Amino acid sequence: MKKRMKYRHAVLMASIATTLLVGCNANATKSNSAAAEKAPAPAAAMAMGPAKLEPLGLPPIPADNKQSPAKIALGKLLFFDPRLGGDASTGCSTCHEPDQGWAWAEDFSRGYPGTVHWRNSQTIINSAYNPRNFWAGSASSLEKQARGAARGGVAGNGEGDLMEARLALIPVYAKAFKEVFGDETPLIRNAWRAIASFERTLVQRDTPIDKYLQGDKSALSEEQVRGKALFEGKAGCIQCHNGPMATDFNYYNVGVPPSPRWETDGLAQITFRFEQYAKGQTQEGYRTAKEDWGYYYRSKNSWDKGKFRTPSLRYTKYTPPYLHNGQLDTLEEVVDFYNRGGKFEDGRTTNFTKTKSKLIKPLGLSDDEKDELVAFIEAFSGEEILMEKPELPDYAPLFTKAELEAAQEAK
Ligand code: HEC
Ligand code: HEC
Repeated sequence: MKKRMKYRHAVLMASIATTLLVGCNANATKSNSAAAEKAPAPAAAMAMGPAKLEPLGLPPIPADNKQSPAKIALGKLLFFDPRLGGDASTGCSTCHEPDQGWAWAEDFSRGYPGTVHWRNSQTIINSAYNPRNFWAGSASSLEKQARGAARGGVAGNGEGDLMEARLALIPVYAKAFKEVFGDETPLIRNAWRAIASFERTLVQRDTPIDKYLQGDKSALSEEQVRGKALFEGKAGCIQCHNGPMATDFNYYNVGVPPSPRWETDGLAQITFRFEQYAKGQTQEGYRTAKEDWGYYYRSKNSWDKGKFRTPSLRYTKYTPPYLHNGQLDTLEEVVDFYNRGGKFEDGRTTNFTKTKSKLIKPLGLSDDEKDELVAFIEAFSGEEILMEKPELPDYAPLFTKAELEAAQEAK
């Protein structure tokens, strides 16, 4: 069955405090897949080794989309420009707000006007390191992700030719596309490349855990050090949240129940059905699906139902609510969820009981231990990365009236 890449998001990041990466080809994320679960591991998760946490290196830069200051500056404008979207209301930053953790602080992301999304918006901080993007890993690069996001029905809902025409009528963009890409008039595919370059600057490598792992033992409090021991021991988090990004980039069902909003909220229900169709669900699945089948939409293997990509723990201090459907509001609640063995307080859990990870079981943590674990998760976040929205350039007619008349006469 053909996988339809509906609404995907691209990725790009801009110059943030830490690094202005111009053309560096640094170590890509290594991942350790401790859990030999029945799932074809994505290439990036194949590297074996003892599961451990590592400081974050420089992000990988693709050879065919090198960084340059002019490209990053253009990408930043485009990221904040809602004219890259259907009705010029919904651009990347609309759902990835700098002061909402570069995400959207509701359970489901806001959607294109008239819709609500069906999944939680993810932060774009550190997305430069993702071998694949999205909760179920369906976008393979930031460039492809940006294109999908701007066009997807419940995201930007933009039409390529129209977005391209808009860019051509904005002189600042016409000039910048010419300088950066040599385009006679702006090509929309280069917009995705510029946005991806901007995203690759939105990285955070100076968190307490980075400093600690690089030898500064004072970077973590005593409580956090105890939390680290739990993370790597009794609580078992390290089995999936490992490597430089605190994720193995593998897919698991940890027990998250479906969102009640798919049954109670008409708009959410419409998107839920639309996504079943858009993702190439089987006829039967399309009619009967009651929850998000996650990685199954890509693999079409029944053992992948309800599995999602292990999310990074970096920057999570600023990105509530949590989980693919945003059902938990605080890190405390997430730790409680794991402590109960992958169940909510009201007992709800996944309907896909067969695919639930064997690694998730009741942990028996005391209240103090839960606090220590939460304190440790906070060590994966540094200062909040905030950014003023740039002033966007104006439209101008492509030809003057006199030029048009002269062209008419010349005919
Ligand atoms: C209408 C809201 C919306 C808009 C507009 C939007 N996004 Fe997203 N973004 C989301 C949601 C929701 C997700 C998670 C989707 C999923 O997993 O199915 C996401 C995921 C992402 C990711 C993946 C991060 C990860 O950890 O895998 C990146 C990168 C991203 N968006 C960048 C962009 C860019 C670039 C644009 C503009 C071209 C954009 N987004 C436009 C809502 C939006
Ligand atoms: C079997 C692999 C696995 C183990 C073990 C595991 N996690 Fe996770 N974690 C995941 C996956 C997969 C998700 C996403 C689940 C979803 O949304 O359906 C997740 C989500 C999270 C989130 C939410 C992040 C966000 O951006 O929404 C946090 C926080 C978290 N885990 C912390 C922990 C802690 C703390 C532990 C140890 C008590 C732990 N995890 C153990 C795989 C795992």
